[in-house]
Parts: sequence; C-alpha cells; structure tokens
Amino acid sequence: MTDLSQPGSQSGAQLQSSTAAAVPPPLWLLAELTYRCPLHCAFCYNPLDYTDHNRELTTGQWLDVLREARALGAVQLGFSGGEPLVRDDVEVLVEEAHRLGFYTNLITSGVGLTDQRLGDLKAAGLDHIQLSFQDSTQQLNDFLSSTRTFELKQRVAAALKRHGFPMVMNCVLHRYNLPHVDKIIEMALALGAEYLELANTQYYGWARENQAQLMPTREQLEEAEAVVARYRQTHGERCKIFFVVPDYFERRPKRCMNGWGAVFLGVAPDGAALPCHAARGLPGLTLPNVKDMPLREIWYESDAFNRFRGLQWMKEPCRSCDEKEHDLGGCRCQAFLLTGDAANADPVCDKSPFHENVVKIVRQAASQTEATVAAREQPILFRNDANSRKLAAAAREPGAAGDNRASPGGQS
Ligand code: FES
Repeated sequence: MTDLSQPGSQSGAQLQSSTAAAVPPPLWLLAELTYRCPLHCAFCYNPLDYTDHNRELTTGQWLDVLREARALGAVQLGFSGGEPLVRDDVEVLVEEAHRLGFYTNLITSGVGLTDQRLGDLKAAGLDHIQLSFQDSTQQLNDFLSSTRTFELKQRVAAALKRHGFPMVMNCVLHRYNLPHVDKIIEMALALGAEYLELANTQYYGWARENQAQLMPTREQLEEAEAVVARYRQTHGERCKIFFVVPDYFERRPKRCMNGWGAVFLGVAPDGAALPCHAARGLPGLTLPNVKDMPLREIWYESDAFNRFRGLQWMKEPCRSCDEKEHDLGGCRCQAFLLTGDAANADPVCDKSPFHENVVKIVRQAASQTEATVAAREQPILFRNDANSRKLAAAAREPGAAGDNRASPGGQS
C-alpha cells in the first residue's frame, strides 16, 4: 500500500483517479440479500458455514449499497440469496434500483412469489425474474431441494406469464437430471419460457461436498449437449437455450467471473464484499465489508479485490503462458479447492502440474456410473442450518461434524 504521508506520494484523490483509470468499474452487482432459504439444495453455492454469517444488512444499508454501486458504474443488478423473497423489503429495493437506472433481476426458487408480490414487483419496476427448477419430475425436484415445491413452481411459472414477465427458467444439471434434459426442455416449452438456462453444476460450496454424487460422466454430458443442439434447431426461435458446460471436462479453464475484480461485485447478506460468489471460501483473503468501507474504496483499493486482478499475481505455468490473457489463469476458487493454493493455475488446464487431480475426479465419476443404481443410493448432504453449523464446527475443530446425509430414495 502506498504511504500517503511521504513526500512525493500520491494523494488519496490522485491514487483513486489513477487506479480508477486503470481498472474498469464493476458492471454487475449481485446483492445476496439473505442466506435464509426454504429450499435445501444439494448443489447450493452458498458457503458451507453460512450460519456463521447470517447477520443481515438492513434495508437502509442495502439502499446505500445500491446507490454507491450505481454511482461506481454498475448497470446490472441481481437480487439473490438464499431466497431473497424471505425478506419483505425486496419491493423497496427494486423500486430504488429501478429509479437509479439498474436493469434488475430477481433470482428465486419461487417460494413466496404470490400474485400480490408479483404485482408489487412489477409496479416497482422489476425487469426480469429467474425461476429455478431442480428437475422435470416432481420426485427429483423435491428430493434435490429437500422440499415439496414442484407444483408450487409450476403455479409460479404461470403467474409470471400472467404478470407479463419474460419467463427465464434455470435448472442446475448433474448426474441425476442430465438424462432428463429433453424433458426439462419440454417442460420449459410447455410453461412458455422464453429463456432456459441449463447450468452444469460448478463444484463450490455444497456442490463440492456432494461432488462424488453429482459429477456426471462425459457420455451423459455429450448426450445432453446433443439433445440441446437438436432442440435449438427445432425450437430455438421460441425459447433460447443456454447450456453452461462444466469445465472439469475441458483442457483449458474458464475465464472465471470474466476476471477477478473486472466486472463482478457481490455483496453477501452480512455486507462482506465478494470478488466472486465463492470468495468466502478462500483462506487468507480478508473480505472488506460495506458497513466499514465505501464501495468505491472496496472496488479499487481493497486487498481482496486487487489480489488476483490482472496478470501480475500469476505464478508459473500461467506467468509465461501465451494463453494467460484469454483465460486469466482460470478460477481462483477451483485452484484453491483442488491444489490448496488459490494462486496456482486452475488445474482444469492440462498445463497445470495438478491437472491429474481433475482427471481423477472425472475418472471416479465414470466408474461410479457403471453402477448407477448403487450411486443413487449414496448419501447427499443437504444445505440446511443444522448441516451448516456442523460443517462450521468441523472447520473450527476437525472431527466435530456428524454424518447427516440422506439417500435419494427419501426426504431428509
Ligand atoms: Fe471464485 Fe472462480 S468461483 S474465482
């Protein structure tokens, strides 16, 4: 950090403007309003220890975040969680966001989205709602979320259309529902979805805990991709289908978050500012909090947002790689989870000395699928407060967590 008290050093304003000139402003603000959620999805990206961070910002504090982010230059705003609708101030936040000129998106399970709230959100200026489904079948939808919400989601989908929102459906894909991709697309078409996002599971948070159960095989993925390609040809005009590929099956990593501290700024329920969704899991990274620091300072000057910004932080093989400006070294969280050091190359890259760690996971998934039935009997750890507390305790005191898993045959 520059010592601003020394002669010749830049003033705060100079430093800010020179830094601001080099670093573009954030474009996308993700407001994670709460970690509370009526669903308990096995692939949730929320931190395992979310129960340790559940003191939520007030309405006033969120309004300040929105104003500061807009002043910084952010234009796109997602409200997520947990389930954002468990808060009763979403309408107030949407109204202010709309007034500020944000393009707003509510990312929801649909639980709590009544006709009344839909009308109020429409009146407040909400642009876009993304409704999640877990599967095309009630059994799997309800099993994976550990709730009985399938029929409710169908009703909410119809209500979205009635209120004139574009229907954006999201379904996270994994070993269990990849074979149903055709049925999931058919369901989206039947419900009148204009957009369908089929997002293969990214293995952070709870999904990482359940990776052995959720990882698909290469064959499953290729078949699903072929199905998607067929539907795009026949129904592409009616429904735009996005298929987000899982990078474990690639030889080059994804350009995660389009670069660390480049476009994305997340704010967690307790006010922690996040350079990526999963940044809370990186040890040694002190996340600045919007309660203590202006957003501008967080974005341009905090250690957390500068740690992996640009190319300077890279070690070999990234440092001398001629593809580094393309993938920016891949994903920091994946590098940490699979190599133990967030500054390593993402091991998805076959130039990484740790690439074998990824190959091993893919190989294990392939061998498990040979016994599909047996794999389905394997336990899953659901995202809920009890499990979060146990995992948080386990992280503090290894061995403290108990086994609280359930098999796909029944609800947890
Ligand atoms: Fe954190 Fe990719 S999820 S950098």
